[in-house]
Amino acid sequence: MNNYLYDVCIIGGCGHVGLPLGIAFAHAGKRVVLYDIDRNAIDTISRGKMPFIEEGAEEMLRDVLEKNLFLSSEKSVISGSYFIVIVIGTPIDEHLNPRFTLFKEFLSGITEYLIDEQHIILRSTIFPGTTEKIVDFLRSNGRKTRVSFCPERIAEGKAMEELRNLPQIIGSLDDISFQEAKELFVSLTNDIIYLTPKEAELAKLFTNVWRYIRFSISNQFYQIATQYNLDYYRIFDAVTYNYPRTGDLPSAGFAAGPCLFKDTMQLAAYSNNSFFLGHAAMLINEGLPNFIVQRLKEKHSLKDKIVGILGMAFKGDIDDLRESLSYKLKKILEMESKQVLCTDPFVKDANLVTLDEAVNNSDIIILGAPHSQYKEIGIDFSKKLVVDVWNFFGKGGLF
Ligand SMILES: NC(=O)c1ccc[n+]([C@@H]2O[C@H](COP(=O)([O-])OP(=O)(O)OC[C@H]3O[C@@H](n4cnc5c(N)ncnc54)[C@H](O)[C@@H]3O)[C@@H](O)[C@H]2O)c1
Repeated sequence: MNNYLYDVCIIGGCGHVGLPLGIAFAHAGKRVVLYDIDRNAIDTISRGKMPFIEEGAEEMLRDVLEKNLFLSSEKSVISGSYFIVIVIGTPIDEHLNPRFTLFKEFLSGITEYLIDEQHIILRSTIFPGTTEKIVDFLRSNGRKTRVSFCPERIAEGKAMEELRNLPQIIGSLDDISFQEAKELFVSLTNDIIYLTPKEAELAKLFTNVWRYIRFSISNQFYQIATQYNLDYYRIFDAVTYNYPRTGDLPSAGFAAGPCLFKDTMQLAAYSNNSFFLGHAAMLINEGLPNFIVQRLKEKHSLKDKIVGILGMAFKGDIDDLRESLSYKLKKILEMESKQVLCTDPFVKDANLVTLDEAVNNSDIIILGAPHSQYKEIGIDFSKKLVVDVWNFFGKGGLF
């Protein structure tokens, strides 16, 4: 390992998963190079700036930048690194079906930079069986490079804390690979779990799908209660109060983002499309914006109303709009209402208006992402109809 310029090269190192991981490894004393094709992100990070919100990351980035954290858009840095961590996006097609050929194309592009002693760590969420397929591909190209799958299980926005606090699952095909991968991750956490690659691939999908289904249960309960003109949160509070077996029932709310839906689709594909719970969860969670609009249509002449959406990110206190249900809601409302005004303090989108404009000029306000700072805003709840699926404002969920 000592013959290498870097301990770790992270491919996709400027992304939401790669960058926090690189910063954390560098902080733990590893020499890290972030390799990425996004030159704008490289520029931003080189100036000590995070290209997206990640709590506590920017200070840590400045501590390690140019000391033991480096950036490059040159593939040659791969050859100079012992561990090659791959965190480019999950290889799927436009219908969210797994596409191994994308990984094959990517690997073909880096094979010439691989050296037999190196160790590839796959960290993107991948379809079960992908790690073994990659090993087969490398072996058929004459490469002995070791491969392990070490899934990322953090919640976006909490990476810097969770990388050190959560156990790390390692899926390796043999003990030497496991011990090596363990040596790398022990710099972040002592809590290491061994699985085979296929078990680890499935463990990652189960983790996300479990979360997604839990959200869907609350979203379904919310829709049932609301249909009967009952405030879900009066029932929710009663059900969860001092009752340990329901203590982990989440509130209702938009369950979205780049992982949960996509990973549920992956598991559906892996189960030969017999994953009924997963399909039901997708229908319920993805159907929530439409449920809100249909109910508003029943109760109000929506065609004459201006609707404001507060929060366009896929969840609270982040700036990531990937697969955000606020945008799905916006699309439906553009068909059904007089006008839609969208606002978000973090998301960069030229079509957004200020918070004041959205609040003051809308007849109906829908909370799209519960950003903490919205707690401070003065909405006159007696004058505006507010749709708050989360019960974030504490006024109940009925509308
Ligand atoms: N965001 C999350 O919270 C999260 C959590 C767990 C797992 N994941 C998984 O991690 C993977 C990456 O997700 P992300 O959110 O970091 O995505 P992202 O889009 O933020 O990051 C991907 C990065 O890879 C770079 N990239 C793409 N193709 C490349 C190539 N050929 N060579 C070099 N760099 C390349 C991009 O420029 C980008 O910076 C996905 O598979 C996702 O499912 C994400």
